[in-house]
Amino acid sequence: MRKIKTGVYGLNPLLDGGFNENSITVLIGTSGTGKTTMGTQFIRRGLEVGNDAVFVSLDENQEQIIREAIAMGWTNIHKYIENKKLVFIDASGKKFSDFIMEELPDFVERWHGVKSRIVIDPLTPVIWAVDDKYQQRELLSILMKETRKVGTVVCTLEEHGTAGRLTGKETVIPMYLADCVIHLKYIRKVGRIVRNLEVIKCRSSRHSSLSHEYRIIRGLGLVVKRLRIARKKTKTISPKLTTELKKRRDMLPREVYIRIHEAFSGLEDDDVKGADPAEILMNVLEDYSEID
Ligand SMILES: Nc1ncnc2c1ncn2[C@@H]1O[C@H](COP(=O)(O)OP(=O)(O)O)[C@@H](O)[C@H]1O
Ligand SMILES: [Mg+2]
Repeated sequence: MRKIKTGVYGLNPLLDGGFNENSITVLIGTSGTGKTTMGTQFIRRGLEVGNDAVFVSLDENQEQIIREAIAMGWTNIHKYIENKKLVFIDASGKKFSDFIMEELPDFVERWHGVKSRIVIDPLTPVIWAVDDKYQQRELLSILMKETRKVGTVVCTLEEHGTAGRLTGKETVIPMYLADCVIHLKYIRKVGRIVRNLEVIKCRSSRHSSLSHEYRIIRGLGLVVKRLRIARKKTKTISPKLTTELKKRRDMLPREVYIRIHEAFSGLEDDDVKGADPAEILMNVLEDYSEID
């Protein structure tokens, strides 16, 4: 799986290297958590190394987004627009079903950009535009299917309901359809706001299962705080376990033995998340103790 750098400093290691190429990521968070900032950061990362970018705006107009990007320190954004490396699609105020079913596929067909990055900011008005769940799913899945043909996609989604708990009903369908979900949230403490992000899912990746503090800094955007403990490969348990497993070799069908052996040889601390690997192996062996 080819990994695409997210542009967010400190986020790539939490996603096993970055976003998967041609995947769909959904950023969920309440207003002000930094979703739009992260979206612009993601496309800037690509533009700086010669990739193309498309910003699909479903809410704010192009001028507003550019103004905010400049205020956040992206002062030469106009250069990329003039060179047609960065293309804006302003769908704010349009009828979303017409836009998604007709205009967007036309655009995708004509697009010739290289290794493109696409931001859709935010998905929320599309969900609000239709009441019917099947129609919502249909619209969102076409939107995602079409945009991923162009490149790697980041969508944002406003969080409602009990903020910070992903309980809002508008989050269900996008979370289900996405390949990667990142939850941005903030906690108000005396005198300051503490921001935290969590990777809820990231397909085909060994992603972090912790909560990570981040900051929003002008000129840089979102920056994730580094954890002191670096992930290490387990050295002590693996050889002992492989010996243990080898002793039971005859108990297991050959194919199963090979698979389990490979799984345990590649184990890292982070995979077992504090559990005892010997205990996990016991469970596996027990499962095959009676061949059915
Ligand atoms: N010029 C700036 N310098 C520093 N931080 C900023 C600046 N502009 C915005 N921010 C921070 O970014 C937050 C808004 O980010 P934004 O990406 O618009 O959030 P969202 O899209 O999730 O509503 C603000 O609440 C503020 O804390
Ligand atoms: Mg926003």
